[in-house]
Amino acid sequence: MNDMVIGKPLPRIEGRAKVTGAAHYAAEFNQPGQLHAVIVGSTVGLGRVRHIDTAPVERMPGVVAVITHLNAPKLAYNPHKSGIDPGGGERLHVLQDAEVRFYGQPLAIVVADTLDHAERAAAALRIDCEGRTPAVDSAAPGAQAINPDAGREPGGRGDADAALAAAAVKVDVVYDMARENHNPMEPHATVAAWAGDRLTLWSKSQFVVNEQAEIAAVFGLPAGNVQVICPFIGGAFGTSLRTWPHVTLAAIAARQVGRPVKLVLTRRQMFYTTGHRPRTVQRVALGATRDGRLTSLIHEGSAETSRYEQYVEALLSATGFMVACPNVRTGYRIVPLDTATPTYMRGPGEATGMTALECALDELAYALRLDPIELRRRNEPDIDEGDNRPFSSRSLMACYDEGARRFGWSRRTPEPRSMRDGRLQIGWGVASATYPALQNPASARVRLLADGTAEVEAAASDMGPGTYTSMTQIAAESLGLPMERVRFRLGRSDYPPAPPHGGSMTMASVGSAIVAACKSAQAEAVRRAAADPRSPLSGTAADAVEWHQGQLRRRGDTAPGVSYGDIVSGSGGSPVEAMERAVRDPDAAQRYSMHSFGAVFVEVAVDPDVKTMQVRRGLGVYGAGRIVNPRLAASQCVGGMVGGIGMALMEQTVLDPRDGRPVNAHMADYLVPVNLDIASLEAHFVQEHDPHVNALGIKGLGEIALVGMAPAVANAIYHATGTRVRNFPIRIEHLLEEA
Ligand code: MOS
Repeated sequence: MNDMVIGKPLPRIEGRAKVTGAAHYAAEFNQPGQLHAVIVGSTVGLGRVRHIDTAPVERMPGVVAVITHLNAPKLAYNPHKSGIDPGGGERLHVLQDAEVRFYGQPLAIVVADTLDHAERAAAALRIDCEGRTPAVDSAAPGAQAINPDAGREPGGRGDADAALAAAAVKVDVVYDMARENHNPMEPHATVAAWAGDRLTLWSKSQFVVNEQAEIAAVFGLPAGNVQVICPFIGGAFGTSLRTWPHVTLAAIAARQVGRPVKLVLTRRQMFYTTGHRPRTVQRVALGATRDGRLTSLIHEGSAETSRYEQYVEALLSATGFMVACPNVRTGYRIVPLDTATPTYMRGPGEATGMTALECALDELAYALRLDPIELRRRNEPDIDEGDNRPFSSRSLMACYDEGARRFGWSRRTPEPRSMRDGRLQIGWGVASATYPALQNPASARVRLLADGTAEVEAAASDMGPGTYTSMTQIAAESLGLPMERVRFRLGRSDYPPAPPHGGSMTMASVGSAIVAACKSAQAEAVRRAAADPRSPLSGTAADAVEWHQGQLRRRGDTAPGVSYGDIVSGSGGSPVEAMERAVRDPDAAQRYSMHSFGAVFVEVAVDPDVKTMQVRRGLGVYGAGRIVNPRLAASQCVGGMVGGIGMALMEQTVLDPRDGRPVNAHMADYLVPVNLDIASLEAHFVQEHDPHVNALGIKGLGEIALVGMAPAVANAIYHATGTRVRNFPIRIEHLLEEA
């Protein structure tokens, strides 16, 4: 093996392309003869289209087509579900009938020669709807919950209700967490072009092979007729995992007008039909002995979904294994509403479920007059008690130790309102983070070329974590080549299939596939050289070869060896090619409970008079297995912590109860943290060698970075003010009410 590349804090190799504009995002793939499409959405939240007056709009300048349910093609909508589609229900069939199921539902598309003409025409289109009042409040009296997990409650054990009744110390509280929208910088966009019955989509997607399969199913085409291309993503956080209706609309429009069509959602439209984090209402009840041992844990939550799909997420999945406790009961309900279907948003499930659990543990720590880290230490489990398996690795307490040392936790005074900086109230809070260490089947192809370089391909995505760089590191190290000699390509549906670029599984899944494909290519290269009588490796067995200064030589030889380039050019120049598929070892998957863990520390300052809150410091320490690139990993974690500040203090999609309209569907009123709100954030990693998750020891990072931050902020605000706010986002008025 040559110099180790994995583990080096290299800068992004795709960084220059991004800052110079050389990196192309979906909406930049302009096609010759392209037209522009604009969606017209419903302005009622529930009802039916009565009449659409298209004629006046069709006569407007530049308008080529107005497409509604009356003239749209009836599409096949063949059954299609991937792992990211809700198991229950059926996707929205766009422009297939007159029903209005939620506010903003696409009811028409206007296609014109310029974006300006399309926008003007879209604004002028009158759609007459018969509207009723939608149900959009999952906590309203009469809202009907359904239980997707009946009989399959994760982690349940013992008799939690009896144990709670008998507990010496109790906490029994309810947390209400708001609906959020993802709001990445890049809007959803699709450029669609047909050539006969073949469709090319340049489309923002975290899962290009699924977008290919889904659009093929929607149009009743063989999957091979659809190509999806997405080399760069300007942030997504889960909103581009599923293939939302606008992709179908772009393809409908392009087919109807017989020309390529570009469709870009407005910021406002990104609040309608591209998923959102569902609002949750959660009860957590904890019972403990006076010395702080948990005896009962009840965690019940309800979350919103749409009428047409049953979106479920891992809201309570961590509850069964975060703490040692003999009696645990969880219950998860979803409440169908007249809204679009929610979806995965960074740390889906855990981010909200762990907020409730970690705030409740903090409340218990105060009730016990115990340090919150000490409470967690006393209840640190030896195994996953929820499913009775050992953890493949669990560094939670090591994360707390490292975090406490770096943060200076020993200087904290435990009483609420006891720390000050001048007139400001200071609060220090902690919370745990966790997320499953997922790995799904993935494939990769490696080509060794005559010029001594290697090409590596997988249908992965890079929504910002630096996938281009980290995968190149893995390939370079596996092949024994310098970084500059390896080109990693992603974001095309005709590359070897990869799982969704989500759930923190890309590094483990695609990374493992690349290792396998590189090994296979290397073995093939050695076989070629061994078969070549002129090669220094002639007749050498694959296992009798070693690396020396970037060359392959017979083990023990002192003579110079040969490079891949020598082998390929010496054997006629046709590339050595290998493709492999990697899956997690099923034995290990069965034997171990696999999760990343982390500890998050936060300092807030609260103005005691006007109650403004600022996160002054945030520090996360994570045990996430092997870190391929510490610089990019830390950058990703800091990004997740920013999202956690948003969840704690700012982000909330507000719906008008009269018509379900998201009233703050723009960046002026939907608040996200900006630089002034962030101050100092740091991420660190504890050394963790996990031989069970995969050969690389990678557990994944993207989601855990958001989990834990919101409860740490809330716990710090309690420490600063003595006011426990159980509504998220925490607002100034919540602190004023209690004052
Ligand atoms: Mo992430 S919510 O899995 O894109």
